[in-house]
Amino acid sequence: MKLAVVGGGSTYTPELIDGFARLRDAMPLTELVLVDPDADRLERVGGLARRIFARQGHPGRIVTTDGLEAGADGADAVLIQLRVGGQAARGQDETWPLECGCLGQETTGAGGLAKALRTVPVVLDIAERVRRASPGAWIIDFTNPVGIVTRALLEAGHRAVGLCNVAIHLQRKFAALLGAEPDGLHLEHYGLNHLTWELAVREGGPGGPDVLPRLLAEHGPRIADELRLPHPVLERLGVVPSYYLRYYYAHDDVVDELRSKPSRAAEVAAMERELLELYADPALDEKPALLARRGGAFYSEAAVALAAPLLGAGPAAPGESVQVVNTYNNGTLPFLPDDAVVEVPARISPEGAAPLPAPPLDPLFAGLVAHVTAYERLALDAALRGGRDRVFKALLAHPLTGQYDRAERLTDLLLAHNREHLTWA
Ligand code: G6P
Ligand code: MN
Repeated sequence: MKLAVVGGGSTYTPELIDGFARLRDAMPLTELVLVDPDADRLERVGGLARRIFARQGHPGRIVTTDGLEAGADGADAVLIQLRVGGQAARGQDETWPLECGCLGQETTGAGGLAKALRTVPVVLDIAERVRRASPGAWIIDFTNPVGIVTRALLEAGHRAVGLCNVAIHLQRKFAALLGAEPDGLHLEHYGLNHLTWELAVREGGPGGPDVLPRLLAEHGPRIADELRLPHPVLERLGVVPSYYLRYYYAHDDVVDELRSKPSRAAEVAAMERELLELYADPALDEKPALLARRGGAFYSEAAVALAAPLLGAGPAAPGESVQVVNTYNNGTLPFLPDDAVVEVPARISPEGAAPLPAPPLDPLFAGLVAHVTAYERLALDAALRGGRDRVFKALLAHPLTGQYDRAERLTDLLLAHNREHLTWA
């Protein structure tokens, strides 16, 4: 089995390698190609990757290259994990919306739109070249904003599935709180990427008893604390929102907080410098503890859990493996168009992802999901076709930006800060 990782020079890659090494029975990789235009990063990350494989006795070959076509040639799956403009562009997304009293974040609100506009054309170009180099390869998209990017890929006819670690992170957290086996917990995780709620936590699989009420009764204050939401709010919701919901439920508090501290991009850039230093040390042969301070925990396990059944490998029989993925709605959430991309549990097989039937979504959640779905449609239109008006409409449609005067100002700021990445601006 051959896998290529586009953006393989990312400081996150050792997390992925660690997972591939530990879970090699599920993922019999013979070749792993790290593709990246940055030769220095590739050397550091590639070196550590080889040492991790060697330490764990993984027989697979690790290849590094700046050539996308050569790297993807004959690959069974290609994982795309890149950030157009790097942490510098992210830093902008996190800053200029604050000038209008709006959230500054790289996947949510105005910053998320800027990221979508920069990213969609780049990922589509990569996917097209991958399709020529290895027709039939699965594309696993970890590139944010995952919902919009996955929809772009699917609309262009690619065999693509979008992946995020929020669901697996909560699954692991809940299992630790309950003293349960993580893979035995089925999360009824519904919504859009970075806009989801855990509606039930079923023991033993999709049909099992729901232990969410117990989890909330016994550990509610702790869960609320970690989500940085007041416990009574969590109690009234009766479900567990992803931490991205704080950007909606406590928007103005978050804006105040962001104004008074360094951006996450600045924090991450400092960590990345340190990580790249560590990776260059020939004595290091495991992922360093510092990596745990990044947001990508369990990303590797999510990637293996998805890629293995998609490629017909892994312990479960075909179609038996259920994973949370981003894929076409196709009636799963009946109040959304079929061609919306939702983040839901789905059965994974070499045919792709088939969402499980969903429970009804309370209007408290469905309203926001429908609202943001409409925004995502407009955001994708703007990313594919460009134009100031399309950017404005997407911002007017987003629940966190709305209002024409603010949307006008945000449009100007977005364009001013992203001109070098937008060919049409
Ligand atoms: C989580 C999200 C990812 C996001 C990451 C940011 O893992 O699911 O979509 O990219 O956090 O982490 P960072 O360490 O870069 O802030
Ligand atoms: Mn994510």
